[in-house]
Amino acid sequence: MKRTKIVKLLQSEIPATHVLIKGWVRTRRDSKGFSFIEVNDGSCLKNIQILTNSSLSNYPDILRLSTGSAVIISGNLVESMGSGQKWEILADRVEIVSFAPESYPLQKKRHTDEFLRTIAHLRPRTNKYGAAFRIRSELSYAIHKFFRDRGFKYIHSPIITGSDCEGAGELFRVTTLTLENLPKKDSRVDYAQDFFGSQANLTVSGQLSAEMFALALGDVYTFGPTFRAENSHTSRHVAEFWMVEPEMAFCNLEETMDLAEEMIKYLTRFILKENMEDLELFANFVDKNLIKTLDSVASSSFNRLSYASAVEILKKSRIKFEYDIDFGKDLQTEHERYLTEQHFKNPVIVYDYPKNIKPFYMRVNDDDKTVSAMDVLVPKIGEIIGGSQREERLDMLEKRMDEARMPKDDYWWYLDSRRFGSVEHSGFGLGFERLIMFMTGISNIRDVIPFPRTPNNIEF
Ligand code: 4AD
Ligand code: MG
Repeated sequence: MKRTKIVKLLQSEIPATHVLIKGWVRTRRDSKGFSFIEVNDGSCLKNIQILTNSSLSNYPDILRLSTGSAVIISGNLVESMGSGQKWEILADRVEIVSFAPESYPLQKKRHTDEFLRTIAHLRPRTNKYGAAFRIRSELSYAIHKFFRDRGFKYIHSPIITGSDCEGAGELFRVTTLTLENLPKKDSRVDYAQDFFGSQANLTVSGQLSAEMFALALGDVYTFGPTFRAENSHTSRHVAEFWMVEPEMAFCNLEETMDLAEEMIKYLTRFILKENMEDLELFANFVDKNLIKTLDSVASSSFNRLSYASAVEILKKSRIKFEYDIDFGKDLQTEHERYLTEQHFKNPVIVYDYPKNIKPFYMRVNDDDKTVSAMDVLVPKIGEIIGGSQREERLDMLEKRMDEARMPKDDYWWYLDSRRFGSVEHSGFGLGFERLIMFMTGISNIRDVIPFPRTPNNIEF
C-alpha cells in the first residue's frame, strides 16, 4: 500500500478507509485504554493525530513511544471527536520502526536558535526550521518558474574558476598541491605544477559566465552556490551562499531594475499564496508584522533614487551613524536600513554609485564619476540585490581593468565578447539566503541555510 503525505490527508474532504502514513512521533498522550500520538512527516507544519487503543497487539510498546520515534501507521481517516483538528487516524496497525531514547535533544519545549545551531543536523525536525526549509524549497522552484515563464534560459556556471569577478580578493583557493611542501620557482609558488596548471578558486559569482551566455542566448540566469572568504562576522554574511543571477542582452539599467522589482514582488506573492501556514508560524513567533510587510511589498512600487540623493537624505536625517556618510563612501548596512525602514518604509533601489567603490565590469556613466549600478534594499536586511549595466565598450573596459590592476591576459575571453558583436547588457545578483530572511523574518542568515559555513565553523 502506498503511503500518503500528511499534507494531503489534512486536505481531505471525505473520510477514507485504509490510509498509510510514515513519520516521527511528536508527542504521546495516554488515557484509559487509549493513547493519542501526534505524528509529523515533514510534509507540512501540522501533525496528524493517531488514535490507538489497547486492542492493538503491540499496545505495550506503543505506550513506550517517545518524541522522535519513527512509526508507520495504517488505519481509517475519520472525523476527529476532539477539538483542534478535523481528521484523525483510527489506527489498526502501528509499526514501530525505531525508538528515540530520552536523550533525544528535541524534547517538547522551545529551544533557542543558538542552541539549535549546535545541532544543525536535527533542527530541520523542529516546527520553525521545517517551515523555513519548506519555504526555501518553494522559493527555489518559484525562481525557476519566474524565469522560465519569461523565456530565460538556465545556465550552469562553473564552481571552480580562475577569475575573480568582484575583484575583492575574497577567494577560496582550490589546489591539489601539498601545502607543507609547495613547489617553488624563483622563490614563488609554482602554480604550473598545480592541478589546473594555474591558480584556481571557488567562484564568487557566476556573472562573467552568464554574460557570455546572455550574448548568445539573450536572456539567461544562473542559480547556484557562490563562495566568499569574507571575514565578516555579521548576521547577513556566510562564506557559502546561493545566488540567482539573471543577465540580459540588449538591456539597460532601468530595465534591469524593472526585472528585479518584478521578481521580488512575484516571489512574495508566490509565497503568500503557497506557504501561508508556514508563514503564519513566523508571523506568530518571529515577526508579528511579517504578513503585513509582505503584502505591502507585493503591491506597492519600490522607490528609486540615485546614490547622490540617498547620501543627501542620510546627511539631512541628522542621525549619528556609526560610519560617516559622504559622496564617494560606500553605503553601510545602517545607512541602507535607515533608507528602507525609516525614510521610505518600503524597498528602495539605489542607482549610479561612485565608480571607485564598484567592480571593473560596471558601465561608466557620462559624468565619469559614477557607474550604472543598482542595489535593491529591503527592510531589516539592507542590500538583497546588487546589479549593474555592464561596460560594453572595449576601450573603457580595458581602462577600468588597468586601473584595477587586473591581469587582462587572463580575461582575454571576457574582452573577446566586447570585440565581437558587443551590445548593451545588464544583470543582477540576488542573495538567496537574504531573500529567505526577508520572506520569513528570520534575522540571522545562519538559520536559513541547512549547514552554514562561517569563519571558524565547518561542522556538519
Ligand atoms: O552585490 P554582489 O557582490 O554582486 C555580485 O556578485 C554581482 N556579480 C551580481 C551580478 O550582477 N550578477 O552580490 C550579490 C548579492 C548581494 O546583494 C547579497 O544579497 C548577496 O549576493 N551576498 C551575500 N549573501 C550572503 N553572504 C555573503 N557573504 C554575501 N555576499 C553577497
Ligand atoms: Mg553588492
